Amino acid sequence: MTLTAFDVRAWIEQSVKGAPFPHMHHNTYYDGGLQVKLFNGATPDDRADFHINTVAEFFFQLKGETHVRTLERGRFRDVTIGEGQMYCVPPMIAHRNRRPQGSLGIVIHGPRAADALDSILWYCEACGHLLHRVDYRVVDSSTQVRQFVAEFLAEESRRTCPFCAAVMPSDWGRMDRPEHGPSGSSHT
Ligand SMILES: [Fe+2]
Repeated sequence: MTLTAFDVRAWIEQSVKGAPFPHMHHNTYYDGGLQVKLFNGATPDDRADFHINTVAEFFFQLKGETHVRTLERGRFRDVTIGEGQMYCVPPMIAHRNRRPQGSLGIVIHGPRAADALDSILWYCEACGHLLHRVDYRVVDSSTQVRQFVAEFLAEESRRTCPFCAAVMPSDWGRMDRPEHGPSGSSHT
């Protein structure tokens, strides 16, 4: 591609225009040395899947907020990225992003190693114990995540905490609701 100054506002307008719902998650501008993506809301309010990436992810919030939960040394940590704020998830840190309707942000990360595996994970809301984990090579993250979420929700034994027996509801983070559009959510 030709390297030139790029109009982010025009990118946003074009993306919104092309979508039946005002959301894109995600829309890639450039994925050479850096992957630059636009993410907006709404993700499901009860989105429950966490993500581990082998490379750091840098966030810059253009509009509204993104609510991030990380798991660090066995404890949940909640951070709100406000409009105009930046944030970074280090490599190998599990994180879950919930994006309200109307929010918009850019996420940038470096290339994954050829043999890198991302992970999608669910944790017990009551005690933080790991419920289920899938390691996978990223091909088309939107489609893959959608499939993993559906498989997780379909199986009660996966949603049942082996430590405290709490059961995650079977509709948490469902991506086939009309308000979440045809593409569903995506990682980051
Ligand atoms: Fe638990």
